[in-house]
Amino acid sequence: MLLSPRAERNWEALCSVLEDVLEDQSHRQLSALELGSGTGQHVTRFAQKIPFITWQPSDIKEEHCDSIRAYIAATQVKTVLQPVLLDASDPWEKWAGLSLNSCDLIVAINLLQYSSFKTAQGVFSGAGQILRQNGLLITYGAFAVNGIIAPSCNEHLDEEIRKLNPEWGLPDIDVLRQLAYGNGLRLERMIEMDDYHKSLIFRKL
Ligand SMILES: C[S@@+](CC[C@H](N)C(=O)[O-])C[C@H]1O[C@@H](n2cnc3c(N)ncnc32)[C@H](O)[C@@H]1O
Repeated sequence: MLLSPRAERNWEALCSVLEDVLEDQSHRQLSALELGSGTGQHVTRFAQKIPFITWQPSDIKEEHCDSIRAYIAATQVKTVLQPVLLDASDPWEKWAGLSLNSCDLIVAINLLQYSSFKTAQGVFSGAGQILRQNGLLITYGAFAVNGIIAPSCNEHLDEEIRKLNPEWGLPDIDVLRQLAYGNGLRLERMIEMDDYHKSLIFRKL
């Protein structure tokens, strides 16, 4: 089981966002896909708190899928499916056999920051196909706004991420908004999580 201290710190706030935006849908069982699930901490915590969502976790790395499997086993959650290997930069047809219009929710936490623009393109293009009408795509992390990265600790974070891989870095909300628009989604809400992080809520039209 891998452990991310950051996931341990932010899962509760993220869970509140999910509860808030899905409040009116709790009368039915929803299908959710998590992209770039990482350790598996988020998806298992969410499942423990929100019973009306069935989760499909996924990641591009086999070692992360192993960790997700370990969290599912340790927590005994019944509403998290076994993880699938999925590269979000691939066309949706390669997304582990997921079907058109099959998901109510797609969640990507700190994925767009730690991957190339090709992944952002894949996420929005896939969400445009996999989500049902009115389905939501929720992305969380630090972002640039109209080309500006602020405050200074986010500038520092962007530099650190780019040192890991020059193709990575904080994505610009306006660019994401355009990507969304081109794929039949609309940026509906921006939630300030703290001074540095936001949740962006996109809805499929
Ligand atoms: C910074 S970690 C975030 C993990 C987790 N969501 C969290 O917040 O704790 C980014 C994750 O995205 C995964 N990832 C990176 N590129 C990806 C891609 N193209 N498709 C799917 N997953 C990807 C990585 O393997 C990693 O697990």
